[in-house]
Amino acid sequence: MDPGRVPQRTLFTGARMPAIGLGTFGSDHVNAAAVAEAVKGAVAAGYRHIDCASVYGNEARIGQAFAEMFAGGLKREELWVTSKLWNDKHGEADVIESCKQSIADLGLKYLDLYLVHWPFPNFHPPNCSVDARSPDAKPYIHADFMRTWRAMEKLVALGLVRHIGTSNMTIPKLKLVWHDAKVKPAVNEMELHPHFQQPELFQFVRGMGVQAVGYCPVGSPARPERDRTPEDTAPTEDPVILKIAKRLGVHPAVVCVKWAVQRGQTPIPFSTTPKNYIANLKCTVMEPLSEAEMAEIAAIDRNCRLIKGQVFLWRDGQTWEDLWDLDGVIKS
Ligand SMILES: NC(=O)c1ccc[n+]([C@@H]2O[C@H](COP(=O)([O-])OP(=O)(O)OC[C@H]3O[C@@H](n4cnc5c(N)ncnc54)[C@H](OP(=O)(O)O)[C@@H]3O)[C@@H](O)[C@H]2O)c1
Repeated sequence: MDPGRVPQRTLFTGARMPAIGLGTFGSDHVNAAAVAEAVKGAVAAGYRHIDCASVYGNEARIGQAFAEMFAGGLKREELWVTSKLWNDKHGEADVIESCKQSIADLGLKYLDLYLVHWPFPNFHPPNCSVDARSPDAKPYIHADFMRTWRAMEKLVALGLVRHIGTSNMTIPKLKLVWHDAKVKPAVNEMELHPHFQQPELFQFVRGMGVQAVGYCPVGSPARPERDRTPEDTAPTEDPVILKIAKRLGVHPAVVCVKWAVQRGQTPIPFSTTPKNYIANLKCTVMEPLSEAEMAEIAAIDRNCRLIKGQVFLWRDGQTWEDLWDLDGVIKS
């Protein structure tokens, strides 16, 4: 598909970001080579927005794929590449080094967007159990976050990144950052799918002129067992989504992606199956869902958070809800 047909989001800098990206988190079931192959296939199909992160452990391999595509004539400025600062690199000096490492691994000279992956400096071994806790884990401390943010701002001044942004934030945390930031977040990446629509945070972010990028847009059906709880629901099994999928003759995942783009967020579905990532891209230019269908999907929100973040908790006896400031107050 001609990338020029893909809907775009205009950020407050005037920059245009494709309204759909390809996720690259292979977790423990899709290796780096397979993800890099999908990046190549997706760009050939018309994707121009790739959502990366150092913690996904595959940026160097994706960088090789970019290099092959640049050698084939693709221009760097045609791509929108995001990467993210991992939780063990919140120290001021670490931010710049970590960003430079991602840029080097990806074989680029700059990133379009660099996000603070989580607002907590708490980390843990890859693929650990959800009960694992870092002994040095801390709550959100705004002064500490702002020190990290100042280094993020420096990345813009140094020309290493075009935009900076946040991820996994809440309204009270974003209010503080918005107040104190010299360079405002251009994007907030957050979980968004028909069973977790986060209407309040979504409207808040939009109200600030910040673009909402939606992760797990189809409900992350292949996430590992350790990231599942008995209460979790699957948007791709919802009768409303199934009904619309049947009408359109598409997979229910495609309805989730289409709804997301039409609602105004930027979904970043992960897929290594060409038929699926092509369908996700194509649906963005198909006839819109009807107003009645959009209203029906709005009504199936179940407030069902799938990525709960338990490993980032800082005290015994806490529950994952403590990470998300549900009563509007930042937990300390
Ligand atoms: N900022 C953060 O903290 C954060 C957290 C989580 C995720 N993310 C980002 O968000 C991306 C997406 O999240 P996710 O990977 O967890 O979940 P997801 O995109 O909701 O789900 C991906 C799964 O859905 C399947 N799928 C996708 N499109 C499909 C289609 N049209 N038909 C049938 N199946 C389809 C894929 O299978 P196939 O491969 O077979 O198509 C894959 O197993 C990640 O890769 C990552 O880049 C960010």
